[in-house]
Amino acid sequence: MEFSTHTQVSAAKVKTAALAVGIFTDGILSPSADVIDRASNGAIRAVLKSEFSARAGATLVLRNLPAVAAQRIVLVGLGKQSDYGLRIYARAELAFANACVHARVGEAISALASIACPGTDLRDRARAGASAVGEATYHYDATLGKPDPQTRPKLRKFAMLVERGDVSKAQHGLHEGEALGEGMSLARTLGNLPGNICTPTHLGDTAKALGRTFKSIKVSVLDRKQIEALKMGSFLSVAKGSDEMPRFIVMHYRGPQSARRAAKAGSQVADGPVVLVGKGITFDSGGVSIKPAGTMDEMKFDMCGAASVIGTLRAVAQLELPGEVIGLIPTCENMLSGRANKPGDVVTSMSGQTIEILNTDAEGRLILCDALTYAERFKPAVVIDIATLTGACVVALGSVNSGLFSKDDALADEILAAGRQALDPAWRMPMDDAYQDQLKSNFADMANIGGPQAGSVTAACFLSRFAKAYRWAHLDIAGTAWRGGKEKGSTGRPVPLLLQFLLNRKAG
Ligand code: BES
Ligand code: MN
Ligand code: ZN
Repeated sequence: MEFSTHTQVSAAKVKTAALAVGIFTDGILSPSADVIDRASNGAIRAVLKSEFSARAGATLVLRNLPAVAAQRIVLVGLGKQSDYGLRIYARAELAFANACVHARVGEAISALASIACPGTDLRDRARAGASAVGEATYHYDATLGKPDPQTRPKLRKFAMLVERGDVSKAQHGLHEGEALGEGMSLARTLGNLPGNICTPTHLGDTAKALGRTFKSIKVSVLDRKQIEALKMGSFLSVAKGSDEMPRFIVMHYRGPQSARRAAKAGSQVADGPVVLVGKGITFDSGGVSIKPAGTMDEMKFDMCGAASVIGTLRAVAQLELPGEVIGLIPTCENMLSGRANKPGDVVTSMSGQTIEILNTDAEGRLILCDALTYAERFKPAVVIDIATLTGACVVALGSVNSGLFSKDDALADEILAAGRQALDPAWRMPMDDAYQDQLKSNFADMANIGGPQAGSVTAACFLSRFAKAYRWAHLDIAGTAWRGGKEKGSTGRPVPLLLQFLLNRKAG
């Protein structure tokens, strides 16, 4: 996708296959819509009453309007003007891009971003708009026998109509939105690929390939022997139930100014890196505590945390953000076999703490805990782990908010704000010490489950015991990383939140 800005003074003179103009309810036309309406002798106002409601996200195509250079004018509903905000803007841009994809046009221009939108600046809108276009043009056909080229989106060029003085702001936002879209698209494809293709080895190869594309990312992929040498006994206990080889992926991004920044800091200790840890279970059968068959296929998505880390690092590298970002991915399958974990088994984590495995299906925390211990060596400024960790989080928050867990109020606020800004929201969950009691074991330092109550909270409490050496937060994305049912597929969340968090840090 090629993103650009367009600065034609009159919307009526814009030559394109499809031009989007915004309409609020109660017959309120955005400035560009008004220009088109006047040029075409009221062609827009004529359809407003009967044919177009202007409800948020609605579209109507008008073709060949007199005295209008664009082949198609796409009216896009913005809802009530008093309710207008970033979310509705992004929804409108998505609706327009979807209309362009369905009409199979190759190039389009939108006048939506230049409409005043409370609480946002043009850079935010351009970023959100470009990422919406990325969403609309995402297409999965990697595992179809005969991919049909007719179903591949044709849209290649997307421009935003802005005023001359706004070009630079818009270009910055478009650039960020493009990188975000590509990071999300990579994360989505990794999520959508089946477990027999997207194996731990495949995740490792994908990370390595990224390291070849972007010289700023150094990648090492550790195999079973190297993981054993690190004494990651908890991670390895999950991995050993499967014939598929485990991997521990380390992606180290160094931005252009990071060396200079460190030097400038002189005797002061330079800011440590942000470390992102992603759960990479490429298939979760539950193990001996086996899951019901009904929707077990969806457990191929149990590596979406890992995918979001890879996607975020891709976006960071493309944007050449200053500073350091490290991605850590423990990845394996959770399967049943004669070598698999059994309920009651006790394992020793890299930290030296022992764990009684009461349920082999609580495997995510068993692989993450060792990665959290490994993270200590980087002296991180912040560690965030991202995991499709608990069904309980889906019960609590559904598919709207990711669950955010942290005892660090300032860090939690920073993450929540990034999520809001990126339209990828999270909701903070409690982490009172009192919940820790549920993890008590008679035979080890802790159990890997905390009983039926507050399942997503006790999972976070388990992780917290391995994250004491640095500022830490945990995102449970079990409800937000993929959709089930007819629209089954990976969403690319929370790449928008993570990238926004990093963008805000670098700006500050
Ligand atoms: N990957 C699952 C969590 C999950 C389940 C995500 C359903 C999305 C939908 C995780 O490994 C798991 O199985 N968790 C258990 C924990 C329980 C045994 C304490 C769960 O949520 O049932
Ligand atoms: Mn599980
Ligand atoms: Zn799992």
